[in-house]
Amino acid sequence: MVGEAWDALRRSIVFFRGQPVGTIAAIDHASEEVLNYDQVFVRDFVPSAMAFLMNGEPDIVKNFLLKTLHLQSWEKRIDRFKLGEGVMPASFKVNHDPVRKTDTLVADFGESTIGRVAPVDSGFWWIILLRAYTKSTGDLSLAETPECQKGMKLILSLCLSEGFDTFPTLLCADGCSMIDRRMGVYGYPIEIQALFFMALRCALAMLKPDVEGKEFMERILTRLNALGYHMRSYFWLDFQQLNDIYRYKTEEYSHTAVNKFNVIPDSIPDWIFDFMPTRGGYFVGNVSPAKMDFRWFALGNCIAILSSLATPEQSVAIMDLIEERWEELVGVMPLKISYPALEGDEWSIVTGCDPKNTRWSYHNGGSWPVLLWLLTAACIKTGRPQIARRAIELAESRLWKDGWPEYYDGKLGRYNGKQARKFQTWSIAGYLVSKMMLEDPSHLGMISLEEDKVKKPPIRRSASWTA
Ligand code: GLC
Repeated sequence: MVGEAWDALRRSIVFFRGQPVGTIAAIDHASEEVLNYDQVFVRDFVPSAMAFLMNGEPDIVKNFLLKTLHLQSWEKRIDRFKLGEGVMPASFKVNHDPVRKTDTLVADFGESTIGRVAPVDSGFWWIILLRAYTKSTGDLSLAETPECQKGMKLILSLCLSEGFDTFPTLLCADGCSMIDRRMGVYGYPIEIQALFFMALRCALAMLKPDVEGKEFMERILTRLNALGYHMRSYFWLDFQQLNDIYRYKTEEYSHTAVNKFNVIPDSIPDWIFDFMPTRGGYFVGNVSPAKMDFRWFALGNCIAILSSLATPEQSVAIMDLIEERWEELVGVMPLKISYPALEGDEWSIVTGCDPKNTRWSYHNGGSWPVLLWLLTAACIKTGRPQIARRAIELAESRLWKDGWPEYYDGKLGRYNGKQARKFQTWSIAGYLVSKMMLEDPSHLGMISLEEDKVKKPPIRRSASWTA
């Protein structure tokens, strides 16, 4: 299966003027509709890049980083509006002209994407990948080039700029990351906050301490401190915290407010009371005024562990939750992108009646094999490789036989996804990365950051909430 996966991954490589620059999202010959699955997506390339780095093939990763950096400098427009300079593309495509024998690039910064949303995650993944490349090859020269330093600063300028914010979290539109359709993940979604935290930490390690670099480093430190505090205090949910919210008073005014966001206890969904185990916890999907999205999102929670946004205790608790709620979060195919699914009226209102995101399908409670590599990394980091082994075994029983689908449907993930592509590259790469990491856990260093003891902000335990 590993051999087949490598063959498939290599078949997905995209060349630009003879050089490998990325991997195509899916090579699904059976599917009539290509949409944009014939493009190289920034987020989709990350597991491919990890596989190549772990296999000692860094060139394609370097080419990808430089190509996307070049695309960043394009002028980006949607109608008459110009996008921020630092925005990285969601995806790009290489057009081959067989007559003229030329290759040209076309990039999509959100102006062609369904829903016209700019990918906030792309820039963060780019920074994270640059660090992974540097860490894996020991080649500091790429990150130190003026071009890469500038690229990083442009991304940072976008997300560190001052505005009307009252929170250190990053305000986003719906669909600006892996879940790239309307799914009620606007506001302060966990996926973006965790990637933001991780990218800030990676940039801090790679910025050159010249005058401008130092200024950025200071801004990063200040933001990390506030972001870490905010997330660990307000996004964290465990049995105790849920019980506290359940007993919240509302309409509190001034600094003494315990229920800071005025969350009305009646808005707590029924499912969470049964779902929350006594042992375990997680970062909820979203926190904003009078709104707590209690849904579980796998990617954000895994990145929280890997970036050490989660404290060691919180990381253990997230793994405990996955074990305790294995059937719900893993089922027969790792891993549920979100839990639970939105159904009925809630589905119509929140998704805008999206027929692709019906209950337990796609982004709405579907199971995505690509997430296996992030789960495996989180398992290794927390010293629980047996959980990853169990998940990989499940994937191995079907993934290859089913033709590497993009996602599975159903409460347990038993069905091939309704509109899932076959030979989805990140499903293939995700599997390979998981296998390689388990075999050689030292690969973890590429995608994991240790807890920063010196600059660790004070942690507020849930007990102090009620004090
Ligand atoms: C879907 C996914 C998105 C992915 C793209 C290409 O749109 O939602 O996350 O990047 O497909 O695979």
